[in-house]
Amino acid sequence: MTHEKATDTSIVHIRPIDGTLDSVVRLPGSKSLVNRALIIAALAEGESRLSGVGWSDDIEAMTGCVTALGATIRVDGDVAQIEGTAGRVRRPEQSLDARMSGTTARFVLPLLGLAGAGTLTAHPQMQARPMAPLVDAMRQLGSAVSTDVLPIEVTSGFGNADRCVIDAGVSSQFISALLMVAPCLDDGLRLDLHGDAVSQPYIDMTVSLMRAFGAGVAKTPEGFDVAPGGYRGGNHLIEPDASTATYPLAAAAIVGGRVVVDGLGHDSIQGDAGFADVLRSMGARVWVDADRTEVRGSGILRPIDVNLGDMSDTAPTFAALAARADGESRATGIGFIRTTKESDRVAASVTELRRLGIDAEVEEDGYRVTGGPHERVAVETYEDHRMAMSLALLGLVEPGIDVVDPGCADKTFPGFWDLLDQLRAEARTTPLVLAIDGPAGSGKSTVAAAVADRLHLPHLDTGAMYRSVALAVLRSGVSIDNHAAVTAAAERSDIRVGGGRVLVDGEDVSVAIRTPEVTSAVSPVAAIHGVRAILADQQRSWARRRGAAVIEGRDIGTAIFPDATCKIFLTASVEERARRRAAETGDVDLDDMMQRIAERDRIDSTREHDPLVQADDAMLLDSTGMTIDGVIDQVADHWERVVDDGPGGMSR
Ligand code: DC
Repeated sequence: MTHEKATDTSIVHIRPIDGTLDSVVRLPGSKSLVNRALIIAALAEGESRLSGVGWSDDIEAMTGCVTALGATIRVDGDVAQIEGTAGRVRRPEQSLDARMSGTTARFVLPLLGLAGAGTLTAHPQMQARPMAPLVDAMRQLGSAVSTDVLPIEVTSGFGNADRCVIDAGVSSQFISALLMVAPCLDDGLRLDLHGDAVSQPYIDMTVSLMRAFGAGVAKTPEGFDVAPGGYRGGNHLIEPDASTATYPLAAAAIVGGRVVVDGLGHDSIQGDAGFADVLRSMGARVWVDADRTEVRGSGILRPIDVNLGDMSDTAPTFAALAARADGESRATGIGFIRTTKESDRVAASVTELRRLGIDAEVEEDGYRVTGGPHERVAVETYEDHRMAMSLALLGLVEPGIDVVDPGCADKTFPGFWDLLDQLRAEARTTPLVLAIDGPAGSGKSTVAAAVADRLHLPHLDTGAMYRSVALAVLRSGVSIDNHAAVTAAAERSDIRVGGGRVLVDGEDVSVAIRTPEVTSAVSPVAAIHGVRAILADQQRSWARRRGAAVIEGRDIGTAIFPDATCKIFLTASVEERARRRAAETGDVDLDDMMQRIAERDRIDSTREHDPLVQADDAMLLDSTGMTIDGVIDQVADHWERVVDDGPGGMSR
C-alpha cells in the first residue's frame, strides 16, 4: 500500500481512484462525545470507562487539562479509565493549554470557575475564536474572569447565583460548557437562552450524555433547569465520529461504489449523522441500520439547496460534493461558522473551489457552488483539518489535486490519509455486470430498467449514448459519411447517463434522442469504428465507477464486457417487435415498421465492428408471447443464481 503522504510531509498528492469503492471503515470515536464525556467523567464521583475513544490532538488537549484539574486517566488502546473528582476540581498549578481545540477551551473554562482560580491558554488560532458569551455568563455567576479573549485568567470561583442568561446565537459550545458544570454548583443552575440556539443537536448531545451520568436536566420555556447533585461515574461506548464519517461516505457518492461506516447507527445522538440525508438528496442511496451506515453512489450528484445550520461542521464536505454536482447548489444557515471555527470555512471553501476553477460565491448566510470540472492545483487548508479532508475528496475523482499541510488533519483524525489508502486498496476494478443485448424492440430497455430497480443496481442504456452522438451530429450539420467529423463530434460531447436521464453537455436530451430523425441516423453512426471506441471506453469506466450494474446494448456481452458476470440475449420475432414499437409510437403501418426494424437489425448485425450477435455464453431469451413481468423474473433469477453461485459472488 503506498501511503498518500509518502513523498513530502508539507504537501500530499491525491491520486484518483480508478475503480469503485467497496469498503467497511472503522472510525475514531466522536470527538464531540469524547470531549464531553471526559469533562463529565472528570467531574463525576467514582470511576468511568470510556471505550471507542480515538486519539487526536483535540482529545489530548482535553485529557491534559482534566488531568491538571485533578482527574486521573489511564489509557489502554481505545479505552480510557477516568477516576473523577466528585466535583472537587483542583486549582491547576500551571496554566492549562487548550491547544487548537474549541471544545476544550470552551468546556474547561467553567471548570476553572469551580476550581476557584486558574489560567487557560491556547494556540494563537484559538485565541482569535470567540469566548465572550461564556465569560459573560460566568461573571453573572460571580466568577472573576480577566478577559474574554484567550489566554484567560480566573481569579475567583462561582458565588451563590443559580441563574444566568447566555447568548445562544454564536456557538452552542458555550451552552454545553455551562450545562456540564451546572450539576456541580451548590444550587444547580437555571440557564436562560437569549436568541435562537445554533447547532441544537450538539446541545441535545450534551444533555443526553449528562443524563447518562446521572444528572437531572429539565427543559424550560427559556432554556434549562439543571439540578444540583453532581455526576456518578459509569461506562460509555463512544460512537464513531459522525463529522468524520462524512468524508468516507461522501467519497462513495463522489467516486462511486459503496462505503459502510461501522458503528454509526440510526440511534446516533450526533447531529452530523443527518448528513446521510444530504447524500440521499443528492442522489446517493443510503441505508442506516441499528449499527451501521451504508452509502452507495454512482459518481453522479444532483445539486441541492440545504440548510446546514444544525450540522455546520459538514459545510466543507458539502462544498466538495457541490463541486461535483451537475448544477448549482447552495448551503445556508451557516453564517455563524465564519467566526467560530478553525477557519472561516465559508470563505475558505469558496476561495479554494475558485482556485480549482469552479464557480463559487460567498452568500449572506452560506455559499453557492456550481459544479464542474476542476484544474490541477494545490489547495490551501488554513490549518483547518476539515478543509484538508474535504478538499482531498475532490482529488479522488480527478487527477492533479495537491493538499497543502496535510498534517492538520491530525487535529481530529490522524488516520485520514490511511483511510484514503484503505479505500483505494479495496476499490474494485472489475465491475459485476449484467449484460443484456438484443435487437431493437426486444424489450431490453424496459426489462433492464426493471431488473436494475429490483436488484438495486444502476442501469446504463448504451443505445442512449449512441443516440446522443447521433443527435449531436444531426445538430452540427456534419455529414454522417464524414467518419472523422462524426468521431470528433463524439469525442467532444460530454454524455452522461443516469437516473433515467441523458445529458449532453449539460442539456437534458432524454426526449430529443427518441425522435424518428435520430432513430434513423443512429445505426449508421453506431457503425463507425471511432465512435464505438470512444463510447466503449466511457461505458467501461462508467461501470468501473459503479462496481456493479445492468448494462444494455448490442455488444455488451461480446465486446464491451466479454467477461460480464451474467449475459442475456433478449430477442423476439420481427413481427412481435414491430407490434410493440407500433403500440409505443402510434404508427399504424405495421409492414413499414417491420421493414424498418429488419433494416436496423441488418445494419446492426452485419456491420464490421462489434456487430449484434449472441455471445456463446449468453442465455437466449425469446420474449415472443411472454409477458414483460415474466421476462423480468427470468432475467433477475438468472442473475441471482450466477451471482450467488459464481466465483467472487457478490455478498451485498
Ligand atoms: O437500443 P437503441 O434502439 O436505443 O439503440 C440505438 C442504436 O444504437 C441501435 O441502432 C444500435 C446502436 N447500439 C450499438 O450499436 N451498440 C450498443 N451497445 C447499443 C446501441
